[in-house]
Amino acid sequence: MSVAEEFVCIFREEHRAVRDTILGLVSAFRSKKRAEIQSLLNRLACLTGPHFRYEEEALYPELTAFFTDEYVEKLYSDHDMAIANAKRLIELAGAEEISDDQSRQAIRILQSIMPHVSDCDGLSILIETLPDEKIQKVLDIRQMAREENLGLTGWADGIRNRLLPT
Ligand SMILES: [Fe+2]
Ligand SMILES: [Fe+2]
Repeated sequence: MSVAEEFVCIFREEHRAVRDTILGLVSAFRSKKRAEIQSLLNRLACLTGPHFRYEEEALYPELTAFFTDEYVEKLYSDHDMAIANAKRLIELAGAEEISDDQSRQAIRILQSIMPHVSDCDGLSILIETLPDEKIQKVLDIRQMAREENLGLTGWADGIRNRLLPT
């Protein structure tokens, strides 16, 4: 398997896991199952922390080979939105009892994160054309991010080099 093929496989699997967790959350919020919501939110934080991190530190900067700066910026701001939305979901999940309105709000938030999952996975078609050394560097930074294993908010509030819009 070439390094590009390896990357595309890994990238797809990671997005599948995020997709399935979001779909699981939609159904858990719909049926207002608090324990399931909590465990899926934890899973989402564990999956997206290292994933967003290596994308921002290693992958997105390479995309200026294909896209305008504005579009690359949009990918970062999708992450800003996803981080803010994940925090909002944690708040909604913290309610003693989830109301119909909170359940609807949560589903809307989850569905507004979803386009980034498919957009991000679509980047594979371009990334696979990068030189092996660049793809390998992305995989190396991914490895480091997985070893440090910061959850989404731990990373975003701790070491992420970007201020969230207020
Ligand atoms: Fe991604
Ligand atoms: Fe992303």
